[in-house]
Amino acid sequence: MREHKIVLLPGDGIGPEITYVAKELLVKLSQVNGFQLIFEEHIIGGAAIDETGSPLPINTLEACKNSDAILMAAIGSPKHDNLPREKRPETGLLALREGLNLFANIRPVKIWKSLIESSTLKEEVVKDVDLIVVRELTSGIYFGKPKGRIETDKSTRAFNTMSYSDQEIDQIAKVAFELAKNRKKKICSIDKANVLDVSQLWRERVDLMARKNKDIIVSHMYVDNAAMQLVRNPSQFDVILTGNLFGDILSDEAAMLTGSIGMLPSASLSTQGPGLFEPVHGSAPDIAGLDKANPMAMVLSAAMMLRIGLKETKAADQLEEAVNKVLNAGLRTADLMSKPFTELGCRDIGKELLKAI
Ligand code: IPM
Ligand code: MG
Repeated sequence: MREHKIVLLPGDGIGPEITYVAKELLVKLSQVNGFQLIFEEHIIGGAAIDETGSPLPINTLEACKNSDAILMAAIGSPKHDNLPREKRPETGLLALREGLNLFANIRPVKIWKSLIESSTLKEEVVKDVDLIVVRELTSGIYFGKPKGRIETDKSTRAFNTMSYSDQEIDQIAKVAFELAKNRKKKICSIDKANVLDVSQLWRERVDLMARKNKDIIVSHMYVDNAAMQLVRNPSQFDVILTGNLFGDILSDEAAMLTGSIGMLPSASLSTQGPGLFEPVHGSAPDIAGLDKANPMAMVLSAAMMLRIGLKETKAADQLEEAVNKVLNAGLRTADLMSKPFTELGCRDIGKELLKAI
């Protein structure tokens, strides 16, 4: 029997509730499709700080390295917000990305027909949206050196460095070109080349790759314009290729096109080794433990894990189809509720998804 080793990282806030739902579904899918999943659960983020003092304990990192795929829920809690940087939950996630060399972050944004009315934008603007953000994840200003703080008698200055090497740009661009080949063959690379040197190099390298891949239509856009175009006419985009910081900002904006960030999955991949699959949303501490969380992004992240990480395509299709069925049946968590629909809690949505498989 095919066997896959999965590390589950429930993390903080609503993390444990949505992990529970995803795990039950994964178990059922493995039974239906005749493969075996071996789960290991580990701590990360605030939960790990409370237990060990570190947001990414060495045991967690080691277990992740030895797995076939990692399914993470969310990290972050107000309780830890004022701790020094090395003890913040987010630092654990950044260390995990760095430790596993997860340089390619992939965030697909597709409209669910049944949810079109929950978008804050007009139906005609969002109805054809089907884009994918390819964000560089282990370099750029998030990791650039030098960085720090200089304190003098007179003033305090803090700084970070946005830097990319040609190899780093090539590596992430290659991922975008590969993805584009199986889609509409369109890449829009987003930078700030009218101002930043780092963006000028970014543009040169993307252009170089474009010349070697004539079947792909490559365009460039400044990030400020891209932020505007994403709400003006989002269906012009197919594959968006961009750096770490711009990708962070634009992927949240793109996520909202669908009406709820509670629907958006993501994958973070390296050239070899396990990928990390996680919802785009955060830990929503305000509703943690209240059975109100939307587990769909987590469930769709599990589907991405099945498809990309474990090559269990049939199970991935079944899981996405189950999400579709539940939405079409008018069942919604609170974040997606409007008049004619039936509101269910996180657990009950999980039960409905199980029935739909
Ligand atoms: C994301 C998040 C993270 C990021 C935070 C939690 C460090 O916003 O995955 O987009 O900035 O990359
Ligand atoms: Mg973000």
